[in-house]
Amino acid sequence: MHQRILILDYGSQVTQLIARRVREAGAYCEIHPGDVSDEFIRSQEGLKGIILSGSHASVYAEDALQVPAAAFNAGVPVLGICYGMQAMARQLGGVTEGSDKREFGYAEVRAHGHTKLLDGIQDFTTAEGHGMLKVWMSHGDKVTALPPGFKLMASTPTCPIAGMADEDRGFYAVQFHPEVTHTVQGAALFQRFVRDICGCVGDWNMPDYVQEAIANIREQVGDEEVILALSGGVDSSVAAALIHQAIGDKLTCVFVDHGLLRLNEAQQVMSTFADNMGLKIIHIDASDRFLGKLAGVTDPEAKRKIIGREFVEIFQEEAAKLSNARWLAQGTIYPDVIESAAAKSGKATGIKSHHNVGGLPDTLNLKLLEPLRELFKDEVRKLGVALGLPPAMVYRHPFPGPGLGVRILGEIKREYADLLRQADAIFIEELRNTVDQETGKNWYDLTSQAFTVFLPVKSVGVMGDARTYEYVVAMRAVQTTDFMTADWAELPYSLLKRTSGRIINEVRGINRVTYDVSSKPPATIEWE
Ligand code: XMP
Repeated sequence: MHQRILILDYGSQVTQLIARRVREAGAYCEIHPGDVSDEFIRSQEGLKGIILSGSHASVYAEDALQVPAAAFNAGVPVLGICYGMQAMARQLGGVTEGSDKREFGYAEVRAHGHTKLLDGIQDFTTAEGHGMLKVWMSHGDKVTALPPGFKLMASTPTCPIAGMADEDRGFYAVQFHPEVTHTVQGAALFQRFVRDICGCVGDWNMPDYVQEAIANIREQVGDEEVILALSGGVDSSVAAALIHQAIGDKLTCVFVDHGLLRLNEAQQVMSTFADNMGLKIIHIDASDRFLGKLAGVTDPEAKRKIIGREFVEIFQEEAAKLSNARWLAQGTIYPDVIESAAAKSGKATGIKSHHNVGGLPDTLNLKLLEPLRELFKDEVRKLGVALGLPPAMVYRHPFPGPGLGVRILGEIKREYADLLRQADAIFIEELRNTVDQETGKNWYDLTSQAFTVFLPVKSVGVMGDARTYEYVVAMRAVQTTDFMTADWAELPYSLLKRTSGRIINEVRGINRVTYDVSSKPPATIEWE
């Protein structure tokens, strides 16, 4: 049983970042809705602290959530952030006032009163000797009178109470957002709260977690057999590697190749997992079946549905053959869990729609094994590396379930997929091989997702003395943290030039390359 920090969510878009920070500080944490019951809070075993998140709402809104009383009576430190601070002030006898004016963006906050939370943490000192923090603010309402027992902890000229603390009770609150990277000392603040104030010992770390996760899987499944749909993506790959370490041959993976994978991808998956790690994998080359069903279909959503449905059908056929399997393993990760809980409660704003290739049906009558349910993506990656997966696989860009199916505009043909695969491989190779002088990183790592798109139109070109009339591909590279918004990447011209030159010279059938300079929104990352 780990020590834990409970994060109560009042609807901020960045609550997950709080959880990331807490885990970086070495403590296990969970996010739950801000209006959980008092009993729920009292039932938290190993509870060491509570964090109240921000919110898009005002504490004055009619449906504003109250912080459960038990949060303030649990005998553990509480940190309020933005709305969390305002709600804390209001519920403990201070005053929070509404305002039409929003303060948004960079701010410099002065620390007051030598609190444990801010002691020794600062970005610079003013001429008068005040410790200052560079922070990110985003609020309308603000606290205008401290609750009894609290002292001033931080201020800005426009927000005189930008932080407050009642150190006897271990209550701290800040108006700014320490969870976002723009707050320079954010990680230090969480480290201070989690380790020094809550007294967490740092029992959340990847090497220990691997052993614990393996023991849990063994206990859960006992002698029963497990099947898993391996896509080659990060989550299913790490889940497969982990379960394999736990139960070896009692895991069977089904890898369905729909013919819309990247160049050599199927071979890579088989060599990594089957040859090197010794996993039992059923490799199904179903490209004829998929491409047959997709013939003549041009509508993007129709294509997605066909690919999803076919995938589920094939997986079911294979599962039926494995009569001993009692468990279906899935690479569900913690953000999926939070999102689906939020979707069910209808509370979160801006929920990302799920794009996964059709959920596997209940009719399989299998119990669900989801060993990554507690992990964030970067923790899944660390786990993958700890399990011996190649870093290049673990740190790969995301790849959509329908694969090249949504990167070939309109009708999908094998010929198009073959051309696209080659062009895409060249682009990725050039991104990996081109290092940015400023950061020392290669452009694959500097972008969040990069690929080429096949345009089924022909344009005229000239090669040698001859006229050509061939297809076009577009290169797409974006930078994003959440994939809900994204900027097109400002790749160096030299990289674009080299890549387009190579694609046109090396891929027979393509004579023109363009670069997509659209950001999301209004464009999406994929073209379909
Ligand atoms: P868009 O194009 O919506 O993409 O900006 C956002 C992210 O989602 C991925 N994506 C998909 N993933 N099945 C998937 O598994 C899909 O149908 C699908 N469509 C888009 C996309 O690659 C990007 O990372």
